[in-house]
Amino acid sequence: MLKTLLLAALAATLAGAAHAQAPAFAPRDESVEALPAGPGREETFGLCSACHAFRLVSNQGMSRAAWDDTLTFMTQRHNMPDVQGAERDAILDYLAAHYAPRTQGRGGWTNPFAPQ
Ligand code: HEC
Repeated sequence: MLKTLLLAALAATLAGAAHAQAPAFAPRDESVEALPAGPGREETFGLCSACHAFRLVSNQGMSRAAWDDTLTFMTQRHNMPDVQGAERDAILDYLAAHYAPRTQGRGGWTNPFAPQ
């Protein structure tokens, strides 16, 4: 019993350490200037790259509604600040304008946040 508890504690510690160190998660080689120019760019980069690479965001293509769901998911699951009002609008406008769904040549991948 004690051994099981110790193993569980060790596993939890290792999982936490791996999460904190994962290098691809928050690389510091991205800059806001590399993003497409437009209103909301600074807000979006600042908020979304606080926890992970902006690449995780820019790899996606979603509708405004699906981006909205993604922000809600980040808030509920990962404790992202619950951004609302004009700032949320600016971020959603920016994401929808520059990271819209790609319709061609991207087969085989399903957006986990897309409305069913
Ligand atoms: C407080 C931390 C935090 C913030 C801020 C944050 N995220 Fe995330 N995000 C995460 C974590 C942790 C993951 C890891 C994958 C998972 O568990 O979904 C993630 C993963 C993702 C993914 C990939 C999901 C997948 O299934 O591959 C997307 C897209 C995403 N975030 C979008 C955003 C956007 C857009 C913003 C800014 C509006 C943002 N995130 C801000 C914590 C955050």
